[in-house]
Amino acid sequence: MPETNNRLWQQRYRDGAPQPDAFIPDAVVATLLEHRSVRAYLDRPLPDGTLETLLAAAQSAASSSNLQVWSLLAVEDPQRKARLAELANGQAHIRQAPLFLVWLADFSRLQRLAERREVELQALPYLDSFLMGAIDAALAAQNAVTAAESLGLGTVYIGALRNQLQAVSEELRLPPLVYPVFGLCVGYADPDKPAQVKPRLPQGLILHRETYAVPEQEAQLIDDYDRAIAAFFAAQGQQSPGWSRQSLERLKSIETLHGRERLAEAVKAQGFPLR
Ligand SMILES: Cc1cc2nc3c(=O)[nH]c(=O)nc-3n(C[C@H](O)[C@H](O)[C@H](O)COP(=O)(O)O)c2cc1C
Repeated sequence: MPETNNRLWQQRYRDGAPQPDAFIPDAVVATLLEHRSVRAYLDRPLPDGTLETLLAAAQSAASSSNLQVWSLLAVEDPQRKARLAELANGQAHIRQAPLFLVWLADFSRLQRLAERREVELQALPYLDSFLMGAIDAALAAQNAVTAAESLGLGTVYIGALRNQLQAVSEELRLPPLVYPVFGLCVGYADPDKPAQVKPRLPQGLILHRETYAVPEQEAQLIDDYDRAIAAFFAAQGQQSPGWSRQSLERLKSIETLHGRERLAEAVKAQGFPLR
């Protein structure tokens, strides 16, 4: 078991073994540490019951005030997947994966309930409610990801589904008060194009104790991480500008938002005023 722990730690941080007693072995934690996004899938159907199992895992996530203000839309029709792939920056894995899940923040169910009971939902138009739906959907989705990986499946989130929110909403016939937070490809990973575990920032950059403090070694730790990320991509025959340059490039201009710079208006058009 210590070898497994060391391997998991090494994969995740590229930094040798964990400090003694700094890592508690556990099967669920091991599944989490083995996560990697999968962008190449086999043309192999999923076992019966996969969708229902993933949904049960997703619904087991916590939910703000137990409002359960999210829904799941499962897409398996190849033509619809192809159209969604085009709307999401032409990402081929959406077409390839047998199952494409769209995680929805969904206040329409409670709105319909309120209309039946003739109640006005005055708290609904506020940003906090919108966030609640998005957070609920994200927590549910991540539970499904862990369940899928535990079942031997691969996944990748598709945030680019928000690039053309209106067209996606029309394709999926989303009513007002329903917002697609992101998509998720699910399928068997193609063993000929295996995905590797991508290293993360060291814990020293992420963890604060009691109060927030900028780590003294911040610049050095980021330089080290840049090297780890470059080595990760080099091992797969890919070049990388490093994490720091890539992250700054990603946020430097609005072009990188690929249409999402208009998201606030699109969200408002879906019936969320975001007050
Ligand atoms: C909300 C969200 C949206 C994402 N959108 C995309 C996407 O549109 N396309 C893609 O290939 N990967 C997408 N990803 C995957 C990230 O690129 C990936 O998680 C990150 O690079 C870390 O790699 P790993 O998941 O293999 O550890 C997304 C991830 C998240 C959490």
